[in-house]
Amino acid sequence: MIQGNDAALQELLRQVTAARGFRCDAYKESCLRRRLAVRMRACGVHTFTEYGERLHRDVAEYDRLLDALTINVTKFYRNADTWDRMATTVIPDLMKRCQGDIRCWSAGCASGEEAYTLAVLLLEEARKSGLTGSIVDQIDATDVDVRSLQKAEESRYPREVFDEMPDALTRRYFRDLGDQSNTLSVSDQVRRAVRFTRHDVTRDAPPDPPYDLILFRNVVIYFDRPTQERVFSQMAAALTPGGVFILGKVETLFGAARELLELEDVRERVYRRR
Ligand SMILES: C[S@@+](CC[C@H](N)C(=O)[O-])C[C@H]1O[C@@H](n2cnc3c(N)ncnc32)[C@H](O)[C@@H]1O
Repeated sequence: MIQGNDAALQELLRQVTAARGFRCDAYKESCLRRRLAVRMRACGVHTFTEYGERLHRDVAEYDRLLDALTINVTKFYRNADTWDRMATTVIPDLMKRCQGDIRCWSAGCASGEEAYTLAVLLLEEARKSGLTGSIVDQIDATDVDVRSLQKAEESRYPREVFDEMPDALTRRYFRDLGDQSNTLSVSDQVRRAVRFTRHDVTRDAPPDPPYDLILFRNVVIYFDRPTQERVFSQMAAALTPGGVFILGKVETLFGAARELLELEDVRERVYRRR
């Protein structure tokens, strides 16, 4: 929650929320100040008021500010140990229970790498267990940042964001465009598994519950504690009994959601709905 008497900061944040619907008051103030400072330095302005005026004059600066605020670093198979755990136990177990019809949500999916990685593992598990038929729209992938979602829809990525992904999976599910650009494109079967939508976890209800698996990794660290607790509770309620919730490696579950979610693997931040 934004506190203190810094009226100019409050005014600036209200302006950003009104212009772009981005709910600044859910974020840690220290985080907002650091990110604003980066953009203000880049624009050569020294006060929040001057920066607010700059935003009025140059609306493209809103995009640059939102990029700075949302921090959309990601990659395929990010934190390989977590994905290995998913591939060996979480997904086979859920697929068995749901007879292949598993519903997933990648919340804060950035430019899509996390959701596509999940699609690859679902397809792999289906292939290994001899399930036929395609996987269509089984993963809801959402983010507040429209530009990240556009990249996700384009589904073309530089080779370096695959460095944690096992080579065999990269070869099976991605196509080298062969045009010297060192770019890989997502195969159609992976694309079809994922549905991208703009969604703000701090203000919107879960898109299409219930889910058997929710990935909510490396998003909540930027939120203040009351927002974290509220969002965790909403997500816990959106899971099926026995459904799985996964946080980022440095994130921890707080608040009332702990009554609904049991910690199953502390290292990989895997929780299971009671
Ligand atoms: C560091 S990335 C994490 C991407 C991916 N989950 C991963 O772990 O690789 C954080 C993402 O959270 C998104 N985000 C931040 N605030 C959000 C909000 N209120 N609602 C939905 N997404 C949000 C950002 O736009 C960004 O794409």
